[in-house]
Order: sequence, then structure tokens, then C-alpha cells
Amino acid sequence: MRLRRNPHAKEILMNHPLVDVATNHHKGSWKSRFSNPHNPLNVELGTGKGQFLAKASSAYPEMNWIGIEKIEEPLVKAVLKGTETENENLRYLWMDILELTEVFAEGEVNRFYLHFSDPWPKARHAKRRLTAPSFLNQYKQLLHPDGDLILKTDSLSLYEYSLEMFTDNGFEFLASSRDLHHSIYASENITTEYEEKFASRGNPIYYVKVKPCK
Ligand SMILES: C[S@@+](CC[C@H](N)C(=O)[O-])C[C@H]1O[C@@H](n2cnc3c(N)ncnc32)[C@H](O)[C@@H]1O
Repeated sequence: MRLRRNPHAKEILMNHPLVDVATNHHKGSWKSRFSNPHNPLNVELGTGKGQFLAKASSAYPEMNWIGIEKIEEPLVKAVLKGTETENENLRYLWMDILELTEVFAEGEVNRFYLHFSDPWPKARHAKRRLTAPSFLNQYKQLLHPDGDLILKTDSLSLYEYSLEMFTDNGFEFLASSRDLHHSIYASENITTEYEEKFASRGNPIYYVKVKPCK
């Protein structure tokens, strides 16, 4: 994603009431950052410009939502979009996904969303894929016992790699489609910016929902 540099981005994020900077201060108590702390916590990894979160937090007010993003420019756009909704169940975390286990406690997350993550196609970069075993072990640790994970991608290679990694690393499959927009899951799907871009070119969207095996 190429966005023009915003010289005010850092300042906006540092001072915005909906944004937390990577911190372990709320580890285990993220829900208390929301007006309804009893609601389950859903986390999108790599929120980008934030369309999904703004729409999902409106569609599911009975859930709390956090978007994680490390790059300032898209995050500012996401935060402004989220602010417009006036939803109280929506926050943003300015951090690197690599720090996930420092920021969240065991069992704290109801659902992770991986939306159009970088496929890192070169074999030597496989460890950077967000469905590499080291990441899957972290998600397992942080997910609530009834929690799950949803992945959407336009990359067939990332999709097939992810299916293999889920199988090999103790996840069970709840749903999947190689053409989400023409599947039985289409009606409940909330699109992201990247998803709309790829779908408008006629590309299929790959989808899978998994949960850790008990
Ligand atoms: C391809 S974009 C997808 C954005 C959005 N999810 C969508 O579907 O439209 C991936 C996003 O993940 C963010 N990202 C990649 N690696 C990250 C990391 N290690 N920590 C936090 N954000 C990351 C990027 O900055 C980028 O905004």
C-alpha cells in the first residue's frame, strides 16, 4: 500500500483517544478500554485504511474491535474512518504484529482476522508470513478457548500454504471457500479495501475460518 507521507500522522496518532501505542499496560484488560467490557474482543491484524473495522463495529455492536497497524499513514485513515462511526466498541493499536504476545494475554482474544496479509512469496521469507508456525502458536495462546481465526486473501500461494500450516499446527477447519464472493458465506462477508480492489479485477477471494483443536 503506497500512501503519501503525512507529516502530521505521528502527532495525530499519539494524541488520538481511540489509539493506543504498543504497550503491555493493558495486557489481560483490553476489554476494560471499552464501554462494554463484557463483550468479546475481535482483533484485525494489519488493518490498513480500516474499512472492515468501521463496518464490522457497526454491524456487530455486541463485539469489541481492535485494529492493529504499524504504518502511520494508513492507520490515520483508519482512525478517522472509525471516528466518523462514533462507535464505542472500536479502538486501534499502533504496533507491530511481532509484539502480539507482549501486548495481549493468554485467552484474551475472541477472534483474529488476517485480511490480505503480505504473501511473502519467496521461500526464504516464509517465516514472515502471518500463518507461519511461530505466528500460529501465538494465536493459539492468545485465543479464548472458544475463539477462532478468519483469513481472507487474493493469493493462492498464501492460501494453500496457510491451509497446510493450519493442518500441521493443530487447527481444525470450520469453513472455507476458494471463491468467497460466490459462496454461501458471501451474504455475511464484510469487505476490506484490498478485497474490493482485487474482486473488481475479477480475482477470486480465498477464505478460511479455523479454530485451535481442543
Ligand atoms: C495489504 S494491506 C491490507 C490492509 C487491509 N487489511 C485490507 O484488506 O484492505 C496489509 C496491511 O498490514 C500492515 N502490516 C503488515 N505487517 C505488519 C506488522 N508486522 N505489524 C502491523 N501491521 C502490519 C501493512 O502496513 C498494511 O497496512
